[in-house]
Amino acid sequence: MGRLDGKVAIITGAASGLGRAGALLFAREGAKVVVVDVDAAEAEQTVAQVTQEGGDAFASITDISKFDQVQAMTAATIDHYGQIDILWNNAAVINALYSSLEEITEAEWGLVIAVNLTGTFLCCKAAIPHMKERQKGCIINTASIAGLVAHRPGRAAYVASKGGIIALTRQLSLELGPHNIRVNAIAPGSINTGMRNKVARPENVTFEYKRNDADVDALRPAEPIEIARTALFLASDDVGPLTGAILPHDGGKSAR
Ligand SMILES: NC(=O)c1ccc[n+]([C@@H]2O[C@H](COP(=O)([O-])OP(=O)(O)OC[C@H]3O[C@@H](n4cnc5c(N)ncnc54)[C@H](O)[C@@H]3O)[C@@H](O)[C@H]2O)c1
Repeated sequence: MGRLDGKVAIITGAASGLGRAGALLFAREGAKVVVVDVDAAEAEQTVAQVTQEGGDAFASITDISKFDQVQAMTAATIDHYGQIDILWNNAAVINALYSSLEEITEAEWGLVIAVNLTGTFLCCKAAIPHMKERQKGCIINTASIAGLVAHRPGRAAYVASKGGIIALTRQLSLELGPHNIRVNAIAPGSINTGMRNKVARPENVTFEYKRNDADVDALRPAEPIEIARTALFLASDDVGPLTGAILPHDGGKSAR
């Protein structure tokens, strides 16, 4: 028996990294999974991996910052699987450069906010009417330590987007509690994924910055599957009325 037997989960950003690990784990636990991403080839690769393991998934190539595409994705989910039990808002972008605020262009700022924060809002907006109708549902948002405590310099847009996701999680948990819809967030520190490895390169730093203790995990960076297990915990019914929680999974970074 799986912990998500009979459930349908939408996971955004599931073509790589944490989202892919989550899609595989949720499917192993019995969920039918909608793999949402802009990267069609890698999204199909996630679906192939789920199917190879005997799971059930399909890919929806959706830009989460576009409401018409998000509406089409939720409609396709209901057509295909009849319901939405879990929405895991996980897709995000990070600007490649560490740059000071005055160097960030409006276009760079706009893209990070549009995908990370507005994309989370739009996916919730599309799924909530269905969840309210059923009087049940579970929303998980991938935030970041960057939304909990000041991050290293050069990440203003990303930090603002993740702080917004944390505030939105708390707000929605209160608004949706009466409808039996739980809303929680995970705040990872470092995860060993393409995103982390892409941005950690020294050539991306446009100004002098000395690393300090606050940059270092007290334990170690997490593997994607380790964060995905936290999402599984939040997704499963075992947790009862757990809602409004922002769960740091950051190797102790935010404990300082
Ligand atoms: N990697 C880390 O160290 C780290 C740390 C803290 C939080 N996070 C968060 O974890 C989540 C997953 O990150 P990851 O490390 O797996 O990154 P990743 O870059 O491997 O995956 C992100 C996925 O989102 C997709 N995506 C980007 N824009 C999209 C859009 N407009 N619509 C749909 N999909 C889109 C990408 O194609 C990609 O597959 C993100 O929310 C990220 O901010 C990551």
